Amino acid sequence: MVNETKRISPEEVSAQLDACKRVKELTEKIFPDSPPTYYIETFGCQQNEADSQRLAGICRLCGYVPADDIKAAKLILFNTCAIREHAEKKALSIIGETKHIREKDSRVIIGIGGCMVSQRARADKIKASNPYVAFTFDTGAIHAVPSLILGALKGEKRKFILSDNFGIAEGIPFYNDAPYKAWLSIMYGCNNFCSYCIVPYVRGRERSRRPEDILAEARLLIENGAKDITLLGQNVNSYGRDLEEDTSIASLMREICRLDGDFRLRFMTSHPKDASDELIAVMAEEEKIVKHFHLPVQSGSDRVLSAMNRKYTREKYLSIIDKIKSAMPDCSITSDIIVAFPGETEEEFADTLSLLEAVRYDMIFSFIYSPRNGTPAAEMDCRIDRAVANDRYSRLLALQDTVTAERNARFVGRTMKVLCEEVSKTDPGMMTGRGDTPRPVHFAGDSSLIGSFVNVKITKSDLFSISGEIV
Ligand code: SAH
Ligand code: SF4
Ligand code: F3S
Repeated sequence: MVNETKRISPEEVSAQLDACKRVKELTEKIFPDSPPTYYIETFGCQQNEADSQRLAGICRLCGYVPADDIKAAKLILFNTCAIREHAEKKALSIIGETKHIREKDSRVIIGIGGCMVSQRARADKIKASNPYVAFTFDTGAIHAVPSLILGALKGEKRKFILSDNFGIAEGIPFYNDAPYKAWLSIMYGCNNFCSYCIVPYVRGRERSRRPEDILAEARLLIENGAKDITLLGQNVNSYGRDLEEDTSIASLMREICRLDGDFRLRFMTSHPKDASDELIAVMAEEEKIVKHFHLPVQSGSDRVLSAMNRKYTREKYLSIIDKIKSAMPDCSITSDIIVAFPGETEEEFADTLSLLEAVRYDMIFSFIYSPRNGTPAAEMDCRIDRAVANDRYSRLLALQDTVTAERNARFVGRTMKVLCEEVSKTDPGMMTGRGDTPRPVHFAGDSSLIGSFVNVKITKSDLFSISGEIV
């Protein structure tokens, strides 16, 4: 296929980096006593977390330093999500609270990016109802944030960036306060148009970064101490289809595994219609690749899958699961499930339950269907009653809880190589990390271990976690 992906020119990127310098000069005048502070609030998925690391890189290059608290910040950036109604409501409510911060200090700049404001109706609404917001920028315009900050500092007109042709910008700085755990976006956008999903409308068409750019970034991450790298994309299985070179997720991962260093490689997420034998084989072969496959099924009913425009059947899905299990018998498999899609009958829901029993996932992320304006499913009749949806949701969780507890128990007695990530949120004497599974592992230790691998003998497991002792 011909490479039609729009690439933001190096000249444009360097003009933006220049804008950072000018912001810094200006802030030194506006905030003469001490450097101004920034605060970034991120909603949504890992893709947004990765994008927020770029925003943090930009803020720092502009001379801003991190604020402990949103109320103390002089530059507040929101990176929003639009996947379900709840995500938008939460963001809108927190954005509303910043009005008072801006009233107290007119030097405060408030900007909003991400999926929510990549919808014209939302951007227009914010323009009209939130006059204290200086700018919004869509998911394809992160590289343009330096000039947005500069314009706001100079008191220029408010700006609302919406494009319908997103490109790829290389060379935007990033900042990660936990460099041992790294996100690496390998592609952006989505072409799948699942009938319920807003993502293709707010993140644009699928576009892949060049393998050489990805490898260069992987090397940099490893040099900076990355021990756990997650390759990101809405459907990493179709990586490279828009590139001229003959590449794929499987060959890309193989090349990354060849890089020197003691690190692990993960990938998120996969669409079953594109999960290839080659990908399963490379996972099984390469020691550095974590044996965890996140393969969202959404529903166990063929009628619902077809209405969702998922382009696979239950049988096809189960055949991929069989392939994964026979190539990697101990592989952790996880999924996303949508409950109460328009028209879902009790029998169709029962098909989802029976699929859960057949696959025996390590963990699922389940959601009650939420209509999204502009998507085909939002126009479908037969919305499911809220009480019915809630009931199905609890039955789904109850079934999965028993499977999850059984799956977690398989680790007891084993020794696992765990990357120590943080002090436990519930017990300051305990540390939390991740092994060769998506599950957090708890063990006694102290913060000096953060960022290093330890061997943990697993002694206990329950529904939510597994725990053990360093050996
Ligand atoms: N690209 C990823 C998913 C991104 S969204 C993938 O296909 O795997 C994460 C999950 O949110 C989806 O898998 C789906 O289960 C859920 N989701 C998406 N749109 C939704 C909606 N309108 N209502 C409820 N859940 C939704
Ligand atoms: Fe949404 Fe489907 Fe694309 Fe995932 S693959 S982002 S669910 S449209
Ligand atoms: Fe949300 Fe956008 Fe991710 S809608 S889930 S932040 S791709």
